[in-house]
Amino acid sequence: MSNKKDIININKDTNLTSEKVIKLKNNNEQYFILNGKRKTYHILTYGCQMNEHDSEKIAGMLSSIGYDETSDEHNADLVIFNTCLIRENAELKVFGKLGEVKGLKRNKPDMIVAVCGCMMQKEEIRDKVLKSFSFVDIIFGTNTIHELPNLIYNVEVNKKKSVDIIDNSDLIFEDMPKSRKFNYKALVNITYGCNNFCTYCVVPYVRGREKSREPIEIINEVNALAQEGCKEITLLGQNVNSYGNNLENKFTFAKLLYELNKITGIERIRFMTSHPKDLTDDLVMAIKDCDKVCNHVHLPIQAGSNDVLKRMNRKYTKEHYLELVKKLKSAVPDIAITTDIIVGFPGETEEDFQETLDVVKKAEYDSAFTFLYSMREGTKAALMEDQIPDDIKHNRFDRLLEVLYPIVLAKNEGCIGKVYPVLVESISKTSDNFLTGRTEHFRLVHFKGSEDLIGQMVNIKITSAKTFHMEGDIVKDK
Ligand code: 5AD
Ligand code: SF4
Repeated sequence: MSNKKDIININKDTNLTSEKVIKLKNNNEQYFILNGKRKTYHILTYGCQMNEHDSEKIAGMLSSIGYDETSDEHNADLVIFNTCLIRENAELKVFGKLGEVKGLKRNKPDMIVAVCGCMMQKEEIRDKVLKSFSFVDIIFGTNTIHELPNLIYNVEVNKKKSVDIIDNSDLIFEDMPKSRKFNYKALVNITYGCNNFCTYCVVPYVRGREKSREPIEIINEVNALAQEGCKEITLLGQNVNSYGNNLENKFTFAKLLYELNKITGIERIRFMTSHPKDLTDDLVMAIKDCDKVCNHVHLPIQAGSNDVLKRMNRKYTKEHYLELVKKLKSAVPDIAITTDIIVGFPGETEEDFQETLDVVKKAEYDSAFTFLYSMREGTKAALMEDQIPDDIKHNRFDRLLEVLYPIVLAKNEGCIGKVYPVLVESISKTSDNFLTGRTEHFRLVHFKGSEDLIGQMVNIKITSAKTFHMEGDIVKDK
């Protein structure tokens, strides 16, 4: 089924040109004239890159209606929580922070507080926010970001609390204004939502069914980014490998990579996340063929036991997964493979856990995100018997790291003496004298250099390696 007919170009068809929004813009202009400064917003973003990119869209809309960003939430006129629900600790963080902002709002009653993102897609959580944090003025969801200007209008002009949630939407809003955090690298949505229903995961419930953007929309966006000087793009989707399945004119992810690889100015193409069940041979070939596609695949295994994988509804076996790893490594010998691993899924036995350790050893991961299973209400796994006690989960988690970290360290140590192009991203958080950036394999590198190299590609000779980063020196040639 096509989603083309449902695409709405927000600049042309929707709210940024509505009467209310024009009035809001005029009010903000008046505020600027009277106060010599614009109203300010501060966004607190929790969770994944999908949320980070949604926050860039929220920021883009706010700036197009006359707000400036502030890094200081205490002085903001509008504070927005863009929330995550993937694990319990993400949820707890948001509630803790909302508690803090309650005090802020008491001293600054005109401040508008908005909560959006995945948590707000769940009715029970929304109700909890409305009841326990009654100072919250605006609630919107992952499908109603484009409504934010109208919601602000309702609060400012009509003095009304505003809630706007759509459970599952086929609409894709193209050309939403975006205030991107960086000019040298950019996040680009290719799919929204997920059809996979892994039994532990809330994403399909809060982000709805999978829908793909039309290839031309993606290509146009990347072309525009290249013209603005962007060097690296990261294509985003819960399962990028199934890109195009729901388009009227079927298109594949591999084909998209070949198209994007032609765009002059773009030097690196990354993508997240790949699902092993959909990683096809033509995609492996595309990674090999396309010089701009980074030699890095993030391929979540989640668990090594076939029993657990079955109960997780992952639709592949350990053997199939390891076969894929082999295929990737033989097609692209220096490919980096990273993964996500969950320990303590309901019913996971010690033998099951040993299977996870076995995959980690066999796949020789370049790095991994590791998680304790977190029970999420509404998912199938939450209803499963044999939930694993916390102490066993923690014990397995520690043992997993004991196996994983030496492998990751050895991989990093293997880079010593070699030279890698690194895209310089920022000043290192650990030391002012150091810059930080990543190799195409997603390895973090710290090195000495001047701040004006940020956004440039430099060659770095690796001199030392730790588990989470490497150090090196800038060199002229490879
Ligand atoms: N508990 C723990 N980890 C989870 N993930 C998703 N849902 C859960 C959960 N309920 C992890 C998976 C996924 C990553 C984004 O988050 O590993 O790949
Ligand atoms: Fe969640 Fe599975 Fe979809 Fe990833 S593929 S978002 S883990 S349901």
